[in-house]
Amino acid sequence: MNESERNRLLIAIQQRTGLFYRSDQLLSIERTLTQLMRRLDLDNPDDFVSAIDEDPDVYNQLVNEITIGETYFFREPKHFEFIRRQVIPGWRARRGASLPLRAWSAACASGEEAYSLAILCDQMSQPVDLLGTDISPHSIAQARRASYREWSFRGGAMAMVQNHFTEIHLPHHQKRYELSERLRRRVHFQLRNLASNTYPDRQAGIDNFDLILCRNVLIYFDRGTIDAIAPRLYESLAPGGWLITASGDPPLTPQANVDTITTEYGTFYQRHLAFANDETQPHSAFESPPHPTPRDTHTPRDPHTSEDARKPTSPADAVRGSRATLPGDATQDQAAQDHVTQDHAPPSHTRPPSRTITAAREALASGNYDLAIRMTEGHLQHADACAIHVRSQARISTEAAIESCADAVARHPLATELHYLHASLLLDRNQLDEALRAIGRALFLDRSAVMVQFLSGSIQLRRGQWKIAYRHFENAFKGCTQQDPHALIPYSKRDTAAATAAAAESEMKKICDLLAKSP
Ligand SMILES: C[S@@+](CC[C@H](N)C(=O)[O-])C[C@H]1O[C@@H](n2cnc3c(N)ncnc32)[C@H](O)[C@@H]1O
Repeated sequence: MNESERNRLLIAIQQRTGLFYRSDQLLSIERTLTQLMRRLDLDNPDDFVSAIDEDPDVYNQLVNEITIGETYFFREPKHFEFIRRQVIPGWRARRGASLPLRAWSAACASGEEAYSLAILCDQMSQPVDLLGTDISPHSIAQARRASYREWSFRGGAMAMVQNHFTEIHLPHHQKRYELSERLRRRVHFQLRNLASNTYPDRQAGIDNFDLILCRNVLIYFDRGTIDAIAPRLYESLAPGGWLITASGDPPLTPQANVDTITTEYGTFYQRHLAFANDETQPHSAFESPPHPTPRDTHTPRDPHTSEDARKPTSPADAVRGSRATLPGDATQDQAAQDHVTQDHAPPSHTRPPSRTITAAREALASGNYDLAIRMTEGHLQHADACAIHVRSQARISTEAAIESCADAVARHPLATELHYLHASLLLDRNQLDEALRAIGRALFLDRSAVMVQFLSGSIQLRRGQWKIAYRHFENAFKGCTQQDPHALIPYSKRDTAAATAAAAESEMKKICDLLAKSP
C-alpha cells in the first residue's frame, strides 16, 4: 500500500478504536495490516475499511491483531498498596464495610488486573462488584477463562496469589494456573471501546464506580482522544471514587470536581464527595445516589429493634450502609413538590402519569416520605403507586403500612411486589405465620423473583426451618448469578445482583454453621 492509502487506513482505524500510531511505529503496524489483509483476501485498503465496517468478524480480527494485551498480576504493586491503605479504608469509612465496592478495570486485557483487585478485596474481606472491559474479544475470552501461565505472575505475584489458583500440569513440563470459581464469579467482563462515547451508561452498569483502574491504555491514544475520554471516566466515578492511571500514562485533563494526586508511582484522581453546582454530573445525586441504601428505599423499619442491634433478615439488611443527604436533594424536592401541585387534578383511572411515579419514587428515595405518601394517595388504583405508598408509610409507621398494604393486596391480588411487602412488614412485626402466608402468595405468583425467594428464606430461618430456608437462599443466590452482577434486583429497588448474591451466600453459610453446631 502507498503512503496515502496507509494514512487513510490508519485514520479509519483511529476513528473506530482510538488507537494512534507514532511515526516510529508505522513500519510495524503497516506490516501487521498488510498480513491481515492478505489473510482476509483483500487487496486494497479501501476495501479493508469497508469490510471493517460491514463485517464484525473482520473488525474483531483487526482489533485482536493491533492491540497489545501486555499485563500481569499485581502490576505496579504500589497501586494495590494505595488501594489497600487509602481507597478501601476511605470508602469503608463513608459506606460501611458490608457494601460491595464497585470497581472497573477499564482495558483489562486478559483479566490479571481485575482479578488482582478481586484477590486484594478478598484478602481484606471487602465485598466487591468488579467489571473488566476491553476492546479485544480475544482478551475478553481469555479473561473469562481465568487460566494463566506462569508468565502472568512475573514480578513476584505468585507468592501472594497461590492459594487462589489450581495448578494444572500440561505436557512438556508446562503448567497453567486456574483461578478459583469463587473469585472468578466476582468479576464480570464486557467488550467495550473506551474511545467511544457510550459511557457512563447507567443501564449497562458503567457508572458510579468507587474505583476505576485505567492503566497502560491511554498511552495508545492521541491527546484529542485522551481529552475526550477523561471527562467520561470522571463521570463514571461515584462521588469520592478514585481513578488510577499507570506511572507511564499521560496526564488527564483536570476537571473542577476532581482532585489530582501525583505520586512517584502514577497520577490518581479523586472525584469530590459533594457535588453541588457540579455541572459535569450526568444525573443528579438525587436520581443516582452513590450507594443508595436498599433499606432506605424499601425495607420497612423495625420499630422494635435498634438499627445497630438488628440481625440481617434481608439482603437490604445485610448490605445496608448509610446515605448522606447530598446537595441537590433540595432542588429535586422542589421538583417533586411541583409535581404534587400538578397532581391536584382529579384522579385519573388510567395509569398514573409516569412523571408522578418517578417523582414519588424520588421523594421516597430521598427520605421525603410524607411527600411520597401524598403524591401516591390519589393513585392507589395502580399497584406501583401502592407499592411506593406502602414503602413510604413503612418508614413512618409499621402499623399504618401494614394496614394500607392489606388494603393494597386486596385491591391488587396479582401484584407480587405488594404481597412481598406485606410479608416483609409482617416479618418485621414478628407475625411469622401471617408473613409465611403472604410470602406464599408472592411465591405462587412469581417463584423466580429473587427477593421473594430471599424473604421466604428469612421467614423460614426465623421459624427455625433451616433446611427450607437454605433452599430459598440458594434459589435467590442462583437467580442472582444468572444476571449481570450490576443489574438491580426487582423489589429491592437498588440492590445489585452481586450484592444480593453475597447476602444470600452469607445467609447460607450462617445456616451451615447452625446445622453443623446442632446435635
Ligand atoms: C497494555 S494492556 C493494559 C492492561 C492492564 N490495564 C494493565 O495495566 O496491565 C492495554 C489493553 O488496552 C486495550 N485497549 C486498547 N484500546 C482500547 C480501547 N479503545 N478500548 C478498550 N480497551 C482498549 C487492549 O486491548 C489491551 O488489552
